[in-house]
Amino acid sequence: MSHTPVAIIGAGPAGLTLAHLLHHNYGIESVVFESRSRQDVEETVRAGVLEQGTMNLMRETGVGERMDREADIDDAIDIALDGQRTRIDLAGLTGHPMAVYPQHEYLKDFIAARLAAGQTILFNTTVDDVTGYDDDRVTVTYATEGGEQQTLTADYVMAGDGSASPRRKLITELPGAVRSKHEYPYAWFGILVNAPQTQKELIYANSPHGFALISTRTPSVQRYYLQCDPDDTVDMWSDERIWEELHKRVSTDDLRVSEGEIFDKAVLRFRSAVTDPMQRGRLFLAGDAAHTVPPTGAKGLNLAVADVSVLAPGLARALKKNNTDLLDAYSSLAVPRVWKAQHFSYWMSSMLHTVPDGDHFQTQRSHAELRSVLSTEAGRTYLAQQYVGLDLPKFEV
Ligand code: PHB
Repeated sequence: MSHTPVAIIGAGPAGLTLAHLLHHNYGIESVVFESRSRQDVEETVRAGVLEQGTMNLMRETGVGERMDREADIDDAIDIALDGQRTRIDLAGLTGHPMAVYPQHEYLKDFIAARLAAGQTILFNTTVDDVTGYDDDRVTVTYATEGGEQQTLTADYVMAGDGSASPRRKLITELPGAVRSKHEYPYAWFGILVNAPQTQKELIYANSPHGFALISTRTPSVQRYYLQCDPDDTVDMWSDERIWEELHKRVSTDDLRVSEGEIFDKAVLRFRSAVTDPMQRGRLFLAGDAAHTVPPTGAKGLNLAVADVSVLAPGLARALKKNNTDLLDAYSSLAVPRVWKAQHFSYWMSSMLHTVPDGDHFQTQRSHAELRSVLSTEAGRTYLAQQYVGLDLPKFEV
């Protein structure tokens, strides 16, 4: 039976970043299990904003070169209310720009770095069972690509296997564990379009017809989102309806949303969830396996990176110095940051979306909130700081 210091379930942002930090920073080996194919992982469409801490982590650990070359790095975002745009000067207010770099591009860079370092990722490999996390050795049972059952032992196991993680219940069944959830009365209809950029910087638009977001992928591919009903399906949104709604919500006399061939349509549900604690014995959760944020502000990937920025040095200290103090404190260090991101995503969502059947009081109150934020430097600075993100935690090993 083979053994690894750290078994990692899931080759998403949490899993691949953890594997990379362990190897690059501490020379610690791990095994990464991923049930999907490499192509699936590298092509699944997700959100794409990198916080300054995430950009710096990529640069400091040797995986930032393509991001610096190809990401759409902007000094500002625009927030529009009833057709009037306010520029949030992120760089001027915080010293940091933002980057639009889609999650699958981030994953491609980490997969390439891992393979270049001679480390493996077991794609098309399903983990069936994890045991021993309450004792002194973890056992992972998995089915190989060819369907063969195998086992691996590990000192520690991290589940970064997404919001439907089968491992989460091992923690939520503990006495005192909490899974806190919130549902939203709206969703996003996301499209990818072959079109030139509408403008260089992102536009978050609050309009009486609902929210819209103008984002980008490349100079010739754009990413647009429209507020829709959570029960909407793709076939309810014809191309004509999409363009009509985008123009109503965003286009003005001096700015027209650029049109082109729509080649991808999807409905994105809005959910918030937080699991606390994020650990049990030798088992740790990170990323969406532990928490989900709605897509407004695109904090999901960045939160996964923040989780493993605590977990990687924690595991390194435990494995190299036989000191588990940081590992024991993982949840208490990670969960408060999750709640801050949860609050920011909720706040941006509620301030920018139209509440279906919203009453006059609620609508006017939330417009006043948005105007207060946009019209004061203190308000814009707060929003900008949360948007570019808090520094990542750093620990000596
Ligand atoms: C995206 O480009 O996918 C995106 C950008 C900003 C957000 C959310 C998603 O707040």
